Amino acid sequence: MHKEISNPYRPIEATVIKVIAETPTIKTVRFKPKEPITFQTGQFIELTIPGVGEAPFTPSSRPSAKDIMEVTVMKVGKVTDKIHQLKEGDTIGVRGPLGTGYPINEFKGKEVLVIGGGCGFAPLRSLMYEFFDHSEEFKNLFFRGGCKNPQELLYRNEINEWAKRDDLNLKLTVDKGDAAWKGNVGLVTTILDDIAMDYANGIAVVCGPPVMMKFITKKALEMGFKEENIYLSMEKNMSCGIGKCGHCRLGTYYACKDGPVFKYSKIKNFHQIWD
Ligand SMILES: Cc1cc2nc3c(=O)[nH]c(=O)nc-3n(C[C@H](O)[C@H](O)[C@H](O)COP(=O)(O)OP(=O)(O)OC[C@H]3O[C@@H](n4cnc5c(N)ncnc54)[C@H](O)[C@@H]3O)c2cc1C
Ligand code: FES
Repeated sequence: MHKEISNPYRPIEATVIKVIAETPTIKTVRFKPKEPITFQTGQFIELTIPGVGEAPFTPSSRPSAKDIMEVTVMKVGKVTDKIHQLKEGDTIGVRGPLGTGYPINEFKGKEVLVIGGGCGFAPLRSLMYEFFDHSEEFKNLFFRGGCKNPQELLYRNEINEWAKRDDLNLKLTVDKGDAAWKGNVGLVTTILDDIAMDYANGIAVVCGPPVMMKFITKKALEMGFKEENIYLSMEKNMSCGIGKCGHCRLGTYYACKDGPVFKYSKIKNFHQIWD
């Protein structure tokens, strides 16, 4: 379990160690917090750029790495633009960990299918590290991932290494290929039909843009996954991150406190889940 944070509004200072350009629009920032931060995979942090503001991100790094954390950030606006300008040695702030992550213990002994789209690979990389570090505790692991084109594929070198692992069945797809792409072309839903697992008793973890999660959830239900075994990561607009301001309301829940990871069965009746 992670340590309770004394003042959840106070950012911990952190020093940027490295900035890695992943794709034309996505960078990974590695930083060292002044105090060790432990998180459960799927939890998030609020990253502060002094004088600019803060924004929520799910760490993409190994949960057990206490001194170093990484976030993988797509440039979409004010804060993320400044994050993309960070350089080694810069000071940032980190609030967290916040929210409820993946219930890893409930996955133990089961077959798990992880499905990622685009920037959704970021939180899932942290989850995959957790699986790899304890792979004997899970029955069978499957990863299916998709992105717009080969240039947008996150962690390409690392994922090529994952593909060689005996404890993982991995397949990728792109919406539009190029001359060098040898994999599948098509939406992620097109690479879900050859998975040799017992869907009715398996776990499906889905993370990606809302429209992708909507269609994958529909497909997962058709495949036979139970509603309570489908886990979604809900990235609602957030401010306080601790269940006080109401910005992230999702039906009767606060996505920042009760999520961001939710079982589909828990939120399926709220009309705004795919917004
Ligand atoms: C729990 C959680 C985890 C997240 N993890 C990641 C991650 O690992 N990597 C990543 O790149 N992004 C992640 N996001 C999204 C990220 O927080 C937003 O992209 C960021 O807040 C945008 O800030 P900005 O100031 O750059 O953009 P703004 O200038 O505020 O807005 C630019 C655009 O982004 C939209 N936007 C703003 N805030 C959010 C928000 N919180 N969620 C969704 N859309 C938003 C706005 O509607 C607008 O269209 C996560 C969001 C949440 C809630
Ligand atoms: S972000 Fe304030 S209640 Fe969730």
